[in-house]
Amino acid sequence: MAECKQFEGKTLFISGGTRGIGKAIVYSFAKEGADVAFTYASRSETADEIVKDLEANYGVKARAYRLDILQPETYKDVFAAFDADFDRLDFFISNAIISGRAVVGGFGPFMRLKPRGLNNIWTATVDAFVVGAQEAAKRMEKTGGGSIISMSSTGNLIYTPNYAGHGANKAAVEAMVRYAAAELGEKNIRVNAVSGGPIDTDALRAFPNYDEVRAETERRSPLNRMGQPEDLSGACKFLCSDEASWVTGHTLIVDGGTTFQ
Ligand SMILES: NC(=O)c1ccc[n+]([C@@H]2O[C@H](COP(=O)([O-])OP(=O)(O)OC[C@H]3O[C@@H](n4cnc5c(N)ncnc54)[C@H](OP(=O)(O)O)[C@@H]3O)[C@@H](O)[C@H]2O)c1
Repeated sequence: MAECKQFEGKTLFISGGTRGIGKAIVYSFAKEGADVAFTYASRSETADEIVKDLEANYGVKARAYRLDILQPETYKDVFAAFDADFDRLDFFISNAIISGRAVVGGFGPFMRLKPRGLNNIWTATVDAFVVGAQEAAKRMEKTGGGSIISMSSTGNLIYTPNYAGHGANKAAVEAMVRYAAAELGEKNIRVNAVSGGPIDTDALRAFPNYDEVRAETERRSPLNRMGQPEDLSGACKFLCSDEASWVTGHTLIVDGGTTFQ
């Protein structure tokens, strides 16, 4: 008997699919039969390899597009390219995150924060979610609904050194998610956030105190380990499934129990 895959015939669009959490989500949805559109910032070769791998090994359609979330309006061009390749959109996940030079003044101790770095994080986190979700919702409406997710992090709930800029913007994007959910429900579009505890990815390894964060996470978690990118994809699949048909405006925390301890 043929294996039944829960997302066959559905399409996912996710920003930042080349690495870390985004890549894990891309693969977990493809394994469930979803066609996948994802974006990259600079790693075009990696993106091409992932597209080929998904199409060869999972039998789904996959396409990658360049996107800079510091220019959120360009989402419109990326979605126009998406329209030429795909005829429906069911799931949108705002996942990409900026790092490096773009976050100078936004990533650091409170007394060193500067409006420019903070504004960049706002642009890449909140504005990019808004424009991406608007474009996604226009397409989902045509096929009777869908599910939108913003990735968030528990750094907006518990103190994480240097994380004030990101933490404040994750709190803001969770609020934006609730507003989007309130207004898109009538179109049968559900909007939620997945808030992860520390996950072992390039973004976290770039923290100057990575070793400390890792040790502290292992100490805090009743499961005695860091999160892995795959630990967040189950929550995303649940929120996109029919099992979550009455879940909207919610932030689902997936933190290995670290927030309580
Ligand atoms: N890591 C954690 O501890 C953790 C915990 C909870 C939540 N999260 C959230 O999960 C999401 C993914 O984080 P991650 O740790 O997986 O990140 P990551 O490993 O650093 O990957 C970042 C992704 O974003 C893309 N990207 C970078 N700069 C971009 C830009 N200017 N425009 C568009 N795309 C850009 C990258 O593309 P290229 O490969 O082409 O550069 C890559 O695909 C973020 O929203 C993050 O806040 C992370």
